[in-house]
Amino acid sequence: MASRPIDHLTDLDRRAELGGGGARLRRQREGGRLTARERVDALFDEGTFEELDRFVTHRCRDFGMEEQQIPGDGVVCGFGRVEGRLVFAFAQDFTVFGGSLSETNAAKIVKIMELALKMGAPLVGLNDSGGARIQEGVVSLAGYADIFLRNTLASGVVPQISAIMGPCAGGAVYSPAITDFTVMVRDTSYMFVTGPDVIRTVTHESVTKEELGGAMTHNERSGVAHFAAADDTECIALIRELLSFLPSNNVDEAPRAVTADPATREDERLDTVVPDSPNQPYDMLDVIHGVVDEGYFLEVHQHYARNILVGFARLAGRPVGVVANQPAVLAGTLDIDASVKGARFVRFCDAFNIPLVVFEDVPGFLPGTQQEYGGIIRHGAKLLYAFAEATVPKLTVITRKAYGGAYCVMASKHLRTDVNYAWPSAEIAVMGAEGAVNILYRRELDAAADAAALRAAKITEYREKFASPWVAAQRGYVDEVIRPRETRRKLIVALEALDSKRDTNPPRKHGNIPL
Ligand code: HXC
Repeated sequence: MASRPIDHLTDLDRRAELGGGGARLRRQREGGRLTARERVDALFDEGTFEELDRFVTHRCRDFGMEEQQIPGDGVVCGFGRVEGRLVFAFAQDFTVFGGSLSETNAAKIVKIMELALKMGAPLVGLNDSGGARIQEGVVSLAGYADIFLRNTLASGVVPQISAIMGPCAGGAVYSPAITDFTVMVRDTSYMFVTGPDVIRTVTHESVTKEELGGAMTHNERSGVAHFAAADDTECIALIRELLSFLPSNNVDEAPRAVTADPATREDERLDTVVPDSPNQPYDMLDVIHGVVDEGYFLEVHQHYARNILVGFARLAGRPVGVVANQPAVLAGTLDIDASVKGARFVRFCDAFNIPLVVFEDVPGFLPGTQQEYGGIIRHGAKLLYAFAEATVPKLTVITRKAYGGAYCVMASKHLRTDVNYAWPSAEIAVMGAEGAVNILYRRELDAAADAAALRAAKITEYREKFASPWVAAQRGYVDEVIRPRETRRKLIVALEALDSKRDTNPPRKHGNIPL
């Protein structure tokens, strides 16, 4: 017969396992969501999860809370292995007081954050929480502030990934906002500072949870989320996939994969991907897929600011961060959202020693009052700043347009880019031919008997001069003009040469990126 202490342990274990109880667990599953424990099991390699603080309970004595003690207090915390590598994680349990954050629940999260930081291991937060636990008042707010501080201190030291896997409000959305990547689950997850009820009272706006803070709202409109997953299982698989591209910390290298894709592979389709007409769009994804290992590109922020593409791929097994203008959307112009999206991704890669590969086809910044009033000058400067300060290996391929300020911004040679290639179709100029001719020859065109013929002649002259990579190549701003089909081989060889790159910025407390 078991002794009393072991009985007691078994009972606590059972209660910890049950969370908020059978009925609430059933509701969670019926709503299409996994439980906190099921999520943790899905995240880690089988049998590797070690739970910490399983028996912690809250200390609240108000609102009848002393009667409701649940071992673990609504969050499952611990560490385990993802593809064999150490990862720390917490999973909030919505069945326990709506996954809300108590003093002790926050202390559990802070404990694993500090361990992750000390060990140099990624931190994954599986969020499913109504925010600060209302019954606890200021101590729960203090708990959130403690977490925000650790999120901030860990930023750029270990990768931090957040999943939003239920209705998340208040502090439960601000912690993810400080982390590097946020994945939301479609139809079952929401993020808002305050929910629809409060909004109705304060601003008299009527809005659904989905419209206000659903997965697609934050993936398409606000850009708060970076990925949208179909369900909990896909969400967690995506986190594992994302981790496979990332180093464990800012000192380690990202894990290299074995690939069957030859480094010398040429893709003839790349020779014809750029249309003859400079104003005709094409899909830059075709270029990326044609160059990277096995054509595999894990796109980040896929639904947001689609005029720029960012994401992870591998070249000869080595993870790289890809940033590319997308001529198929808004002609690939840089607007406010694209600039912020690009800048954030560049800074992540730079912080974690992931080389940057840029594919450039950009006619400039998007003109217009909306952009100017919205601060395109400040936001565009973010992307410029991010590329300029980045000290990781930087490689640029100009596929077509590199016009004006956007030429400077998109990892030009002048921003310490290590290797700049151009395809023969590259056009490097202050602006497009039509715009330039209208400005340079306005008087002549006004006075000309046949303005159309004069304009056409001047455009031809301008294009012959600037619509090629040769002037930039003569100056050394472009290192080599390469055939599109050989882009993969050229990038891989260059990347290998840059393996030992060391570059630094001047000593300072921190720079002042134009926020
Ligand atoms: C305590 C909470 C809670 C909370 C939910 N619950 N939120 N308990 N503190 N913050 C409890 C409910 O009482 C309920 O308990 C259970 O969790 C499930 O909640 P429901 O409302 O039934 O679920 P649902 O309809 O799905 O709505 C989920 C929700 C809503 C949208 C999250 O509960 C909600 O709006 N909660 C309050 C959100 C909020 O304003 N939080 C404070 C934010 S301030 P039972 O016993 O019935 O199962 C904050 C400050 C941080 O976080 C600082 C930021 C900078």
